[in-house]
Amino acid sequence: MNKILKWLTLTMLLSIGVLVTGCSSDNTGGNASAGEGAKTINVSLPLGPESHHDAGVQKFKEELEKNTDGSLTVVPHYNNELGGEREVVEGMGIGTIDAGISSTGPIGGFVQEVMMWDMPYLVDEAEQAYAILDGDIGDELAGKIEKQANVVVLGWMENGFRNETNSVRPVETPEDLKGIKHRTQESKVQIDTWEAFGTNATPMAWPEVYTALQQKVMESQENPLATILDVRFYEVQDYLNLTKHVYSPAPLLMSKQLFDSFTDEEQEAIMQAAKVATKHQRIASQDMEEDVKKQLVEKGMTVTEPNLEKFKKAVEPVYEKWAPEIGEELIKEARNTEY
Ligand code: MLT
Repeated sequence: MNKILKWLTLTMLLSIGVLVTGCSSDNTGGNASAGEGAKTINVSLPLGPESHHDAGVQKFKEELEKNTDGSLTVVPHYNNELGGEREVVEGMGIGTIDAGISSTGPIGGFVQEVMMWDMPYLVDEAEQAYAILDGDIGDELAGKIEKQANVVVLGWMENGFRNETNSVRPVETPEDLKGIKHRTQESKVQIDTWEAFGTNATPMAWPEVYTALQQKVMESQENPLATILDVRFYEVQDYLNLTKHVYSPAPLLMSKQLFDSFTDEEQEAIMQAAKVATKHQRIASQDMEEDVKKQLVEKGMTVTEPNLEKFKKAVEPVYEKWAPEIGEELIKEARNTEY
C-alpha cells in the first residue's frame, strides 16, 4: 500500500475509533475497574501484551482508574495496531491518536536534541540514564517535544540497552559486521553509527522489520533483549551480540490536544499515574533482562559478549559529526551526569 493510502486508511480507522470507542469521550470501555461512562484513552504500543512496555501501560491503567474512581481508563493497542512509532507520534501531534509508547529513535525527527539518545555509548549504566531523564535534561527534552511535536511526555519509561542480532555470524569486533545488511531506526545518527561499524545500513519503520529479516532483505537489527524475545526475532536471527551500544528510553506520550481537554484534576491524576507507572515499568524491565537472555539461549540464539573498546573507537567520527548538531554542551552534561 502506498504511504498516502496507508495514512488515509489509518486516519479513517482512528476517526471511526474516536466515534465508536470515544477516545476521550464517554464510554464504558468494558473494563471491570472503569466506571460507567468512563473516558477511554487509547494507547498505542510497538510491542505485545506481556512486553516490558505493557508492564508500564497496565500499571498506568490501574493507577489512573484508582486516581479517578474509574472515570478515566486506558485501552492498550498492541503490536503497532495504530501504526509505526513515527506515524503514532505524528498522529498524537495532530490529535488523531490519543497516546502511545515510542522509543526515542523516531522522535529525533521531531526534536533534534532527542537524537542525543542515539549517540553510541553515551551512557554505560541504566542508572545514569535514569538520572539524566529524571533531571533537568529530561525536563528540557520533554518541553521541546511538547512544543515542537505537540505531544506531552507523561513519563520516561524504558526500552533498554540495545544489542545487535544477525543471521550471518557472531560479532566479536566491528570487522565482523562488515557488509552485513543492517536495519536502523529512522535516525540519521543511527545510520552513521552502523556505517561506522561497517554495515550496509538502511532505515526502516519498525512494523516492517520482522518480515525484512525473515526474507533476508535485512540480515541484522538491534533492540533490547526484551524486545527481541517479544517479537520472536530468535525465529529469524541466529546470533545475539551484546553490543550494548545505545540506551533507549521509551516515553509514554499523549496528544497535547487530548491532554489539554482534560480538567486540572484529571491532568493531575494522569501525571500521578504515569509517575508511578514509570517507576514500576523500569523495575519490571530490569527484572526481565537476565531471564530473557536465558530464554533467548534456550530458543537457540548464540550469544557473544564482545569487548566494546573497538566499537567505542569506531564511532568516534559519529561524535565529531553529530555532537555539534545536537549540542556539545547537552552531550557533555549528559555524559557527566552523576548517579
Ligand atoms: C525499533 O527498533 O524500532 C524500536 O525499538 C521498537 C520498539 O520501540 O519497541
